[in-house]
Amino acid sequence: MLGKSTSLALLIFLHSLSPCSSAPAPSQLGAGSTLSVEDHVRSFLVSPDATFSCGFLEAGENAFSFSVWYTGSADKTAVWTASPGAPVNGRGSRITFRHDGGLALADANGTAVWESKTSGGGLVISLLDTGNLVISDPSNNGGPAPWQSFDWPTDTLVPSQPLTKHMKLVAGYFSLYYDNDNVLRLLYDGPDTSSIYWPSPDNTVFGNARTNYNSSRIAVLDDTGVFLSSDNLAVRASDLGPGVKRRLTIDPDGNVRIYSLNATTGGWKVTWAAMAQPCSVHGVCGQNATCEYWPGLRCSCLPGYEMSDREDWRKGCKPMFGVTNCSQDQAAAPEERFKFVRVPQTDFYGYDLGYNSSVTFEHCKKLCLEMCLCTAFSYRLTGIGVCYPKGTLFNGYTSPNFPGSIYIKLPIDFDTSAQSVSARSSEGLACNPNGPKIVQGSPDTFRRPRNNTKWSYLYAFATVLGVLDVIFIATSWWFLSSKQSIPSSLEAGYRMVTGQFRRFTYRELKDATGNFKEELGRGGSGVVYRGVLDKGKVVAVKKLTNVAGGDEEFWAEMTVIGRINHINLVRIWGFCSQGKRKLLVYEYVENESLDRHLFATDRTLSWRERYRIALGTARGLAYLHHECLEWVIHCDVKPENILLTREFDAKIADFGLAKLSKRDGAGDSSMQLTHMRGTTGYMAPEWALNVPINAKVDVYSYGIVLLEIVIGSRISEQRTAGGERLEMSQTAEVLRQVVASGDIAPLVDGRLQGQFNPRQALEMVRISLSCMEERSKRPTMDDIAKVLMVCDDEDEHPAYRS
Ligand SMILES: *[C@@H]1O[C@H](CO)[C@@H](O)[C@H](O)[C@H]1NC(C)=O
Ligand SMILES: *[C@@H]1O[C@H](CO)[C@@H](O)[C@H](O)[C@H]1NC(C)=O
Ligand SMILES: *[C@@H]1O[C@H](CO)[C@@H](O)[C@H](O)[C@H]1NC(C)=O
Ligand SMILES: *[C@@H]1O[C@H](CO)[C@@H](O)[C@H](O)[C@H]1NC(C)=O
Ligand SMILES: *[C@@H]1O[C@H](CO)[C@@H](O)[C@H](O)[C@H]1NC(C)=O
Ligand SMILES: *[C@@H]1O[C@H](CO)[C@@H](O)[C@H](O)[C@H]1NC(C)=O
Repeated sequence: MLGKSTSLALLIFLHSLSPCSSAPAPSQLGAGSTLSVEDHVRSFLVSPDATFSCGFLEAGENAFSFSVWYTGSADKTAVWTASPGAPVNGRGSRITFRHDGGLALADANGTAVWESKTSGGGLVISLLDTGNLVISDPSNNGGPAPWQSFDWPTDTLVPSQPLTKHMKLVAGYFSLYYDNDNVLRLLYDGPDTSSIYWPSPDNTVFGNARTNYNSSRIAVLDDTGVFLSSDNLAVRASDLGPGVKRRLTIDPDGNVRIYSLNATTGGWKVTWAAMAQPCSVHGVCGQNATCEYWPGLRCSCLPGYEMSDREDWRKGCKPMFGVTNCSQDQAAAPEERFKFVRVPQTDFYGYDLGYNSSVTFEHCKKLCLEMCLCTAFSYRLTGIGVCYPKGTLFNGYTSPNFPGSIYIKLPIDFDTSAQSVSARSSEGLACNPNGPKIVQGSPDTFRRPRNNTKWSYLYAFATVLGVLDVIFIATSWWFLSSKQSIPSSLEAGYRMVTGQFRRFTYRELKDATGNFKEELGRGGSGVVYRGVLDKGKVVAVKKLTNVAGGDEEFWAEMTVIGRINHINLVRIWGFCSQGKRKLLVYEYVENESLDRHLFATDRTLSWRERYRIALGTARGLAYLHHECLEWVIHCDVKPENILLTREFDAKIADFGLAKLSKRDGAGDSSMQLTHMRGTTGYMAPEWALNVPINAKVDVYSYGIVLLEIVIGSRISEQRTAGGERLEMSQTAEVLRQVVASGDIAPLVDGRLQGQFNPRQALEMVRISLSCMEERSKRPTMDDIAKVLMVCDDEDEHPAYRS
């Protein structure tokens, strides 16, 4: 018989287990303390200022780990874990600080899964405000602690936690560690192959702006968001400054990132990443697939292959044809059994069956035909033909700058036309592929662009990309042997994916420019000179004026700008900083700036060129705003800063300078600029207001440039019939009418003589209008680039041509 008092007692007992009634967890415990996993809502310890907690975290279905985490993080991201990868049962497991001084994690059946291996009487365990879980001996005042979690990092460093010689951060097959030559590296060590992928294995230590002379081998993230390593690596979180809770983590995708905690939402935001381009991380797309990073990360199967697992790109693509058994003799000659399908601008690193430079395409093809194991060959067009027959196809990478193609070996009767490009993730995106191309400007031929449904497609698409971005992880690939891959000096285009960035002396640059003889141009930030480096490479050297900050600051900023790498951004090769002398060394872009073509009387640009420039500029800016972790706002987008290559591809110049000339509020997406930047006619109205500037100022300026590309003259020089200057609001009204009527022809540059694509022109005007809206209504550069890409007539992606 159960009495009333018994059940009440039971209730009270149960109640005492619930979190509300329990006292806050202490920051220090003596021997004999224990916490069972059933009680995981409670913390074992909380640091004195409550920044960190430690206790049980759910690590899967009925699985828990004993971890330390930031109390304020909503998802309780562990910054340290006892025995990572070996969680304990959700029933009956416990953590105990034993009377013998050892901290032990015991599984349900009592087995010790993990132990601190400490012993001694009178030891105490405490969680410090730094996040360090320490077992110390109070009687040994100031002596070294017998055990501390900082000595056993898992995948994360918190501020002030050093990474030293014998430690490494590990996530799956990836690790961050000090190599024998004192350089901090990222290593992929998979079941099939192992290779270093950061810093770029393609460069020397010095070429990567590191040094191997300092043997102290220590790296620390400090309280202001600067991560310094003894090998000269110095990186800064984009939200630099004290008071933010951060962590540096090697993620399961092999990238190392700094995260900052949003104190309001408890969410994490990436404020730095070791690799800006997700395709340079191993294992993203798996075997027989290529990775492309525009407009975000995208994997696609090679022709003749289909996804092995619809849900998981890591599993790569499987052949849709019968693979030849190489140990069987074949009746027919190889030429009669195979054909090759070209995938342009693509390469697969490593797994070369051979390497031969200076051979013809036909010879290379023959080599692959005759090798049964050859699945494809890579042929590069730079200089003399370079031929790499490939065995396994890992680490595929498609990049518009890559100067070669891969040729896939397929059975001769395999029908690739049946396999459409839509097997890729972009299905449903095509913008009216059968729509009009260039037409004579008669209104009858206009086809109304589809309305806003396009935007919903885009958002769906963006979601897919987001999901893909998350689906990274570990398989094997990359340089099987660095000797066999990419001989340096051969491939200027290839360099795009690596950083080749160096520091020059003033003397070198003086010599290179013939004592600053040939001026190429000048602008607000300085004068640009033509220079020739000793290897004959032509460069543009800019003498900066008005640079704030000391040498160290400039260096740190340069290492950030130097890493920015996109086909539509002018590449920075290096810099010089000697006292007051600050110079930048850029790639030389042949065809002058956009304004000289757009507003010239003696020449003009075709519609096709214009559209490419508009799209390229949008991509470059989108990259700066979104893929570079939102730390670069250009602040001076105008035709003068858009340079054109020989092929009339746009390359944006002068980015990153806004940051150089000030350094006060390094806010995450908005910065406090102390003085106005930009150029009249292109400046967003909010420059005149006292508000923090964000990336939308570039969107505004881009809108103006885009409109100028369509109409072929300066917006600021538009006049009314009466000869008065047209106000921006009046211009916008005109545009609205044009968009409403759909009659774009009168607006388009007359010099084109009707040779333009009205669908594209209308879209450009539409975008331009939205860029002139008040800033919260303006689209992002990413949105714009996507819309322009969708409306690009030519398929931007590698077409499968035989
Ligand atoms: C305890 O359980 C773990 C896993 O659940 C198992 O590996 C181990 O052998 C067990 N130990 C004993 C003594 O039963
Ligand atoms: C080596 O690196 C450490 C840590 O970054 C630094 O304190 C020390 O000055 C460096 N030594 C030399 C010789 O540069
Ligand atoms: C935190 O998140 C909120 C909501 O997303 C956002 O409004 C706020 O700006 C964020 N704070 C910081 C410091 O990023
Ligand atoms: C990739 O293709 C090769 C044949 O070319 C095949 O042997 C291999 O199994 C494929 N990989 C996957 C993951 O299907
Ligand atoms: C390939 O052919 C050899 C010899 O005929 C045979 O022993 C082997 O099983 C075959 N392998 C496969 C995968 O079919
Ligand atoms: C490269 O090809 C040439 C003939 O085109 C041949 O003589 C030479 O042996 C080849 N070299 C290698 C390393 O295969």
